[in-house]
Amino acid sequence: MAEILDGKKLRDKILEELKARLENYDKKPTLVVILVGDNPASRIYVNNKKKTAEKLGINSIVINYPSDVDEQTLLAKIEELNNDKNVTAILVQLPLPPHINKFNIINAISPKKDVDGFTPENAGKLFTGEKPYVYPCTPRGIIRLLDEYKIQIEGQHAVIVGRSNIVGKPLAQMLLQRNATVTICHSRTPNLADITKTADIVVSAVGGKIIGKNMLKSGCVVVDVGIFKDENSKTRGDVDFDEAVSVASYISPVPGGVGPMTIAMLMANTVELFEKACL
Ligand code: GUN
Repeated sequence: MAEILDGKKLRDKILEELKARLENYDKKPTLVVILVGDNPASRIYVNNKKKTAEKLGINSIVINYPSDVDEQTLLAKIEELNNDKNVTAILVQLPLPPHINKFNIINAISPKKDVDGFTPENAGKLFTGEKPYVYPCTPRGIIRLLDEYKIQIEGQHAVIVGRSNIVGKPLAQMLLQRNATVTICHSRTPNLADITKTADIVVSAVGGKIIGKNMLKSGCVVVDVGIFKDENSKTRGDVDFDEAVSVASYISPVPGGVGPMTIAMLMANTVELFEKACL
């Protein structure tokens, strides 16, 4: 039976450390989250981020725009936030409605306030090996979780299923920097199981229940980034947990694995940007 990678326990430890760190300062970070429209999943994520930030003594402001807001309005707000010395971190919740060009919006965020690490400057630095201001939250959370359980990364074959800018692509870079051999697969990869079966570490970030035990090598590490509600409104990931738990050596559950780590790393990034700006 696999050992559980407990993201909640590690999140709580990290948040305690961040809270204590912030008590050293007179000023507080201010994280501004821009939310467009009323995507229910985005709303839940944003509320979670706000609640967690407030527990740590981080000022958290959510600006909610209607789904038909125009790009100019968003760009003008980002410009204002970039120039506001009191604002230390800016996050635009994704996805954005289709009439908005997400690249125009992300590109407008000051790289020094880009708490997701998604701007071309930060993403480009990650790609070339120069240190970005911060690393994207979900990949950083995954690596922190692996490190907590002393799981070896160097020399291991990591197979990432998913090629998003939020998870798959930045995680591949970060694992390469840790000397893993990395394969990126996605929804159109033929014979996916043949590839995942060769993995020492499998990270699934596609959405939908696709990873069963016939796709896993005995003793591999399984990290599940997927999250959706099944037909019985139960929160599930990409991995068939009951099957995988009997094959893997370690497995991250959904909920309680990568999700809490993403929030913890968002808070860590917020604190780090604040320290770089103010100290
Ligand atoms: N939507 C899903 N995950 C994320 C994330 O990490 N950052 C942002 N900005 N939007 C998201």
